[in-house]
Amino acid sequence: MELTDRVTGIEASKIREMFDLAEEAEGDLVRLEVGEPDFDTPEHVVDAATRAAREGETHYTANAGLPELRAAIADSLATDRDVHVDPDTEVCVTAGGMEALHLTLLCVASDGDEVVVPSPLWPNYFAQARLADATPVEVPLPEETGYALDADRIIEAINDDTAAVMLNSPSNPTGRVHDPADLRAVVEAAADHDAYVVADEVYMGLTYDVDPASVASLVDTDNVVLIDSCSKRYAMTGWRIGWLAGPEEVVSAATKIHESTSSCASSVSQHAAIAALTGPDEVREEMQAAFAERRDLVAERIDAIEGSHLPAARRCLLRLRRRE
Ligand SMILES: Cc1ncc(COP(=O)(O)O)c(C=O)c1O
Repeated sequence: MELTDRVTGIEASKIREMFDLAEEAEGDLVRLEVGEPDFDTPEHVVDAATRAAREGETHYTANAGLPELRAAIADSLATDRDVHVDPDTEVCVTAGGMEALHLTLLCVASDGDEVVVPSPLWPNYFAQARLADATPVEVPLPEETGYALDADRIIEAINDDTAAVMLNSPSNPTGRVHDPADLRAVVEAAADHDAYVVADEVYMGLTYDVDPASVASLVDTDNVVLIDSCSKRYAMTGWRIGWLAGPEEVVSAATKIHESTSSCASSVSQHAAIAALTGPDEVREEMQAAFAERRDLVAERIDAIEGSHLPAARRCLLRLRRRE
C-alpha cells in the first residue's frame, strides 16, 4: 500500500517543528514560531461563546456559516475595507483562514495549473497549491526594496496556465504592506489570463504606520477571493474561525466541498466571532499598540548590531525617526 504523491511531496512545516519543540522545552522561551498574539481573547467574546454553549447553540450550522456571522463579516468588510459582498451568496465561514485558503485553491486550481506565490512567503501556500495538484511558482521579491511587491516580476510569471496568484498584504513574514498600484496591476494582469487572485488579509488591523488597502477594494474585476479570519486581529487563533468572500461561483463551490471537509465551522466559535466583529475594539487597539512598541524596540536593537542588514528593520527606523 502506498501514500499518494500528493501528500508525500509535501514537507512538514519547519514552523510547526519549532512549535512542537518549544511546547516541550522548559525555561523562559521567547516564542517566535507561529504567528500568534500573546494576548487573551477579549472577555466579551469569551462571554458570547459561553452563553451560546449554555443556550444550546451547539449543533451543526449551515455549511456557509450562521447568517448573522456572514452579515457581520459583510458589514465589517464594507465599513473597514470598502469591499461589498452579499452575505447570502458571497461569504463562506471556515475553520480558520487556513481552511478558507485550502478550499479556495481546491476550487480554482488543479493538475497542470500554476499558482504564483511571491516570496518570502508563508510556506502553507506551497502545500495548499500542491494539495490541489497544482504547481506553485515562486517569484522572489527584491530584498533591496524591502520586499516590495514587484508587479513586473509577478506579471511576468503569470501565463495561461496560471490558476491563481497569492497576494498577502500585510505580508507574513516580511510585514510589508503592498502598494495599491502594484496590487491593482497584478490583479488586472491575472484577470487578463482568467486567473484568480487569492488576497490573504488575515493581518489587516494590526499594522502600524500605514493603512493597507484591501485588494478587493482596488479593482472592478471579479477575480479576487478575499481570505480573512478572527485569529490575529482578535487574538482568537484557537477558535478557528475564518472566511472567504468574493465571486459567487467560488464561494458556492467552496461551500459545497466544505460539507465534505468540516461540514461547518464550530457553532460556538461562530457566536464568538459575531461578538468579535460587532463588539468593542479596545483589545485590538491595545494589542496593536503593544506590538508597535515591541517592533520599535526590536528594530532599534537589530539596527545596532554591526553588520546587520535587515531592510524591514531599516524601514521601521526611518519611520520612527520621522515621527520623532
Ligand atoms: C499569512 C497567513 N495567512 C493565513 C493564516 C491562517 O491563519 P488562521 O487559519 O488561524 O486564520 C496565517 C497563520 O499564521 C498566516 O500567517
